[in-house]
Amino acid sequence: MEREDLLFKLNWFYSLEVSQVDLYLAQSKRFKGTYESIVFARTAAVEQQHVEKLAVIIRELGGEPHQIGDVISPLFGGLLGKTLAFTGLKNTLQGNITIENKAMTDYVALLQRVGAEFGPELQTILQHNLVDEDVHTAWFVQRLADYELLELLKRSD
Ligand SMILES: [Fe+2]
Ligand SMILES: [Fe+2]
Repeated sequence: MEREDLLFKLNWFYSLEVSQVDLYLAQSKRFKGTYESIVFARTAAVEQQHVEKLAVIIRELGGEPHQIGDVISPLFGGLLGKTLAFTGLKNTLQGNITIENKAMTDYVALLQRVGAEFGPELQTILQHNLVDEDVHTAWFVQRLADYELLELLKRSD
């Protein structure tokens, strides 16, 4: 993989991670007073670590971390816009799962393309970010399943 291609992809991840920090902080505010609010805030803190690690590796590769526009809206057919607005907990969890799945797919794809040629640190960062996204997805999926079960039980009262 060419260094320029790698830098472009890393900046794409950087943009996605920055957007996720904003998104999860906004969600934490929206659901203030709930357990989910705390989870969204802690998830945002992990995404912030991803942002910082990507910034370090981009600089080490001779690039400058920058946002390459709105990378989240295309995942929703361009519908989401800059507001990053999801309504209700169910939509929020579904939206988050979509974003985390995209991140995981792309981290796996990049890990399959880069070996040790850019040093071991890059692979470690990509692997660690991937594992974190995997954990986030698992929690969102489980919470969504619980939510849907509760809705079902309410309806059958
Ligand atoms: Fe992340
Ligand atoms: Fe994540």
